[in-house]
Amino acid sequence: MPDPRVGEILVQPDELAHRVRELAEQISRDYEGKDVLLIGVLKGAVFFLADLMRQLQVDCEVDFMAVSSYGSSTDSSGVVRILKDLDASIEGRHVLIVEDIVDSGLTLSYLFRMLGGRSPASIEVCALLTKPDRREVDMPIRYVGFEIPNKFAIGYGLDHAERYRNLPYVAVLNTP
Ligand code: IMP
Ligand code: MG
Repeated sequence: MPDPRVGEILVQPDELAHRVRELAEQISRDYEGKDVLLIGVLKGAVFFLADLMRQLQVDCEVDFMAVSSYGSSTDSSGVVRILKDLDASIEGRHVLIVEDIVDSGLTLSYLFRMLGGRSPASIEVCALLTKPDRREVDMPIRYVGFEIPNKFAIGYGLDHAERYRNLPYVAVLNTP
């Protein structure tokens, strides 16, 4: 039986695979001859990051952070709590923050400032999805997969109350 909460498909599996390959090629060119440290923001970015990293042609390592933003389930408050910090120092490293989705941009701008303060050699952001209409802070996002409309998205790592991360596509969450 189809799940009535899984709505319109925004990005199909083949579009995801194709765009991930393009992003990986671009990143591999930009970081040629350098070591990249991918920093995945748990948990949503894990799926995208795993696919992206397997396509990279440069030396790379991965580390993870877990953050939670206070506030209601579908709105970010900008107050970010670190639940799990990185395992190692990023001093002198070329850091690429990998995010599933940038909505208001509040979570990312906080992370960007915090990690930027730890003296990396460089720091950039790669986000699979962005919702430009929702942006509250101006964030430099070097690599973007897809721009999506202002709807709550699920699948390919994105959850609603921890469900639907396993969908192989990105879809809209239907509100009953
Ligand atoms: P921001 O701080 O408003 O940019 O929100 C960032 C975080 O909220 C993302 O990393 C996601 O975890 C979550 N989020 C924002 N929009 C969505 C969505 O449409 N679906 C699932 N999670 C979302
Ligand atoms: Mg997230």
